[in-house]
Amino acid sequence: MDRILILDFGGQTTQLIGRRIRDFGVYSEIAPGTSEIADILTPDVKGIILSGSPHSSWEEGTPQPDPALFDCGLPLLGICYGFHQITRFDGGVVKPLPHREYGRSQVQVVQNDPLFEGIEAPFDSWMSHGDSVDAPGRNHDVIAVSENGVPAAIAHRDKMIRGVQFHPEASHCEHGTKILENFAVGICGCQRQWTLEQYIERQRSELQQQAAEKDVLLLISGGVDSTVAAALLLKALPAERVWLMYVDTGMMRKGESDEVAKNLKALGAKNLLLIDAKDRFLQPLSGVEDPEKKRKLIGDAFIRVQEEEVAKHLPPGYLLAQGTLYTDLIESGMGVGKNAQVIKSHHNVGTPLVRAKRDAGELIEPLDQLYKDEVRRLGLMLGVDPAIVHRHPFPGPGLAIRILSDITEEKLEILREADAIYISELRQRGLYDQIWQAFSVLLPVRSVGVTGDARDYGFVLGLRAVTSSDGMTADVYDFPTKDLLEISAKITNSVKQIGRVVYDISSKPPATIEWE
Ligand code: XMP
Repeated sequence: MDRILILDFGGQTTQLIGRRIRDFGVYSEIAPGTSEIADILTPDVKGIILSGSPHSSWEEGTPQPDPALFDCGLPLLGICYGFHQITRFDGGVVKPLPHREYGRSQVQVVQNDPLFEGIEAPFDSWMSHGDSVDAPGRNHDVIAVSENGVPAAIAHRDKMIRGVQFHPEASHCEHGTKILENFAVGICGCQRQWTLEQYIERQRSELQQQAAEKDVLLLISGGVDSTVAAALLLKALPAERVWLMYVDTGMMRKGESDEVAKNLKALGAKNLLLIDAKDRFLQPLSGVEDPEKKRKLIGDAFIRVQEEEVAKHLPPGYLLAQGTLYTDLIESGMGVGKNAQVIKSHHNVGTPLVRAKRDAGELIEPLDQLYKDEVRRLGLMLGVDPAIVHRHPFPGPGLAIRILSDITEEKLEILREADAIYISELRQRGLYDQIWQAFSVLLPVRSVGVTGDARDYGFVLGLRAVTSSDGMTADVYDFPTKDLLEISAKITNSVKQIGRVVYDISSKPPATIEWE
């Protein structure tokens, strides 16, 4: 399949470049910016984009592209830092600006170019840079300028090398996607071969080959990724050969385990291993307050339960499937092309089971070319319940890290009841889908209250709701006060052990999304 390779120099929007390109049907992959070109060029690569970066191109020790890139014969497009690298390599000058240029800026095209085909100038671009090109390289001409007179785009006179100062991948950049499309389709000649329908077909034949006569085990968390991976396996392979294992740790939300089972059955699952391991998790956690210790104990219990259950149910030589996404691989610094397998083996070594399966070549990751929103769309195409597809993330240790003290059955029950009310109210009020993640935490303090004529001493419940795009940073959800008051009243009226409700108004940073 034709593809655009994106060399990543650490820019915040590198992933977005890849997403935008896939939006118009061209496949794209991301590789580390400093990769040796000979290692990453495969015949399918039709053009290369050099990403932005938090670094300045003129600083010592900043990531540099392989010089062979400029003679590889493929079309190149440098964005921001990538543009500066192209300029410097050709003898041009890049300098810091007296003031950082950030936000909207109008771009005027001064020379026609295939990059701007079909685009009416001037147009609004999106800038975020502290350096700019003071003099283009000796073989380059300025083809567009920003309203501040800064070179906004350059073109090589003889080669298909282009550079832009602005960020066409940013949603605020007018015609940004069209510029990327002009590059990928118009200049590089990529065919639009990337559709999810084709992805399903390709995965189906690949999975049939990989699995041949073998059984496949997938560990299910109940979240989007593992559920969509299950749907894909069930579509590709006979249901008798697909084993789905779900471990109920006792730290799940109200009704969660039943719902997971119901959803998997609806997708055609026949071999469902629903492991009730509550005691095996709760016992070691007894009296433990330290969050990292809780995580470690839960991780260890997972490993033990997994090993025991797998040994009971699966023959040796079975394949292990994981719902790893493309972003999981990229974030771990892997590359693409010839080196992909080598680099992947260093990524997310995971539990001993995952490690052993990876080393034995018995690990399959059928979603590893997809971004999260593509996984969601794929899920809908495969018939996964929309409520799961649009579900908020839920951490592996579950409610254990939302009880801010030692864990007891009683506290789990209180938190479960309260959180179920919170989430169901968000859904009923049409707020759930506006929020990236919402949940409740049970605080380790009691507070005084009055009910009727009596004074009582109840738990305090914290409500959290944040907006985010990836969980790396998060803003407090701007809750309508009326909803917040009504939800609080509903919780304290229904869960008698809770005497007080507070709303967390901290963004990330400095706070984290979870409280532990
Ligand atoms: P924080 O709290 O670090 O959370 O801002 C960012 C995202 O990660 C989730 N999270 C976890 N997920 N195991 C997980 O599988 C964990 O130990 C864990 N801790 C936090 C959190 O829910 C949020 O989506």
